[in-house]
Amino acid sequence: MRIAVLNGPNLNLLGIREPAIYGRTTLAEIEARLEEVGAELGVTLLFSQFNEEGRMIEAIQNCHGVVAGALVNAGAWTHTSLALRDAFAAVSLPYVEVHLSNIQAREPERRHSWLAPGALAIVAGFGADGYELALRGLVRALSAVPDAGG
Ligand code: DQA
Repeated sequence: MRIAVLNGPNLNLLGIREPAIYGRTTLAEIEARLEEVGAELGVTLLFSQFNEEGRMIEAIQNCHGVVAGALVNAGAWTHTSLALRDAFAAVSLPYVEVHLSNIQAREPERRHSWLAPGALAIVAGFGADGYELALRGLVRALSAVPDAGG
């Protein structure tokens, strides 16, 4: 089974970006940990990070027939982009929404997610560990579905 791990804007700066909120773990370290968990679970992970929304939409479109599901931290686009949710829907791609911080406990403009209504699940507030928890949950959910594809 293949799983896409999609990160949105400014997440390439994890480690130095507002560490009191997002921690000091870098995106490379998160991806390395996910590789270990992926090996344990027997899944192949495809990593990408975008600072341009259109490129992320194209990456989601290109997941069609290639991966069984996705983890997505869309960063600030979570709060602005119906187009990202539409892209997941267009290719019928199950996804788990991930946030390092608990967006419901933050400023009002971060409490609404355009991705949430289409998400299989949401993991928020566990910091970098949230990616691992989300991966385990997504693989378990997809494994329960016959012919999950990807
Ligand atoms: C974030 C939360 C968003 O509000 C913010 O814009 C981010 C990171 C998180 O992981 O906590 O870029 O998605």
